[in-house]
Amino acid sequence: MKRLFSTSSSTVDSKEMKKFQLLAHKWWDEEGEYSALHSMNDIRVPFIRDTLLNMSNNHQLGNPLSGLKILDVGCGGGLLSEPLGRLGASVTGIDPLEDNIRTADQHKSFDPVLAKRVQYKSSSLEEIVEESMETFDVIVASEVAEHVADLEMFIKCCDQVLKPEGSLFITTVNKTQLSYVLGIVIAEKIIGIVPEGTHEWEKFVPPEELQHLLESSGFSVKAVNGMLYNPLTGSWSWTESMSINYAVHAVKSRGQGQSSHTDPLVRDAT
Ligand SMILES: C[S@@+](CC[C@H](N)C(=O)[O-])C[C@H]1O[C@@H](n2cnc3c(N)ncnc32)[C@H](O)[C@@H]1O
Repeated sequence: MKRLFSTSSSTVDSKEMKKFQLLAHKWWDEEGEYSALHSMNDIRVPFIRDTLLNMSNNHQLGNPLSGLKILDVGCGGGLLSEPLGRLGASVTGIDPLEDNIRTADQHKSFDPVLAKRVQYKSSSLEEIVEESMETFDVIVASEVAEHVADLEMFIKCCDQVLKPEGSLFITTVNKTQLSYVLGIVIAEKIIGIVPEGTHEWEKFVPPEELQHLLESSGFSVKAVNGMLYNPLTGSWSWTESMSINYAVHAVKSRGQGQSSHTDPLVRDAT
């Protein structure tokens, strides 16, 4: 398959990397800077699992995601890779920051179940495109889109490494006045539940813009769901409003001239 663009540019924003570098050892502190990402697992893991299971009528009890190759892009310390591995998926977590991968690898070693199911690699998405064309059944990019340098390139790379009819899950932050006040002023500067400087409002992504980018890259958007964080309880819930955080599920088109996909977990996609 031909590449859609040259990789002379990059999705990696070095300013963003410097911020994450400072906290690379803090990923698994459940009460620390990444506590909101820990608790986000309570809704994002079931969202990914149930969406995939609803697209399939063939799954293994106890290991419902077994047989699926998942790419966790911007995996950080592996907070999402690990639970997906425990659900039976074969997970590749990539992150441009070597220290994040070191933390992820070290934490993975505490659970022998993950040894064969989860692999990490220090890499950007564009660096693995060549070797991973149409390799993955599923891509997750959770809380990453708002940190990349070039979102269009990022989505196109996702398209290239995803199998036809594969699923892409993105969670990110909308660009609204409310997300500025709650996501930056209150969350970062006043109550400090997110490390100060983590987010730049200019990089937040309106859902219509993301949807447009996805559709113009050959994806069909299946769901866009609002997410709400309650700082008093430290918990997340689904909400109709997408004015702050939201999650997207999109499916890559079947591709020209291809007949029905044989992967059991995407067979029934509508
Ligand atoms: C807020 S963290 C989310 C980590 C993880 N996805 C989670 O939800 O627990 C954002 C992560 O994206 C990574 N990142 C930033 N830019 C990236 C890019 N262009 N490609 C891949 N990962 C990137 C950062 O290094 C960081 O680990």
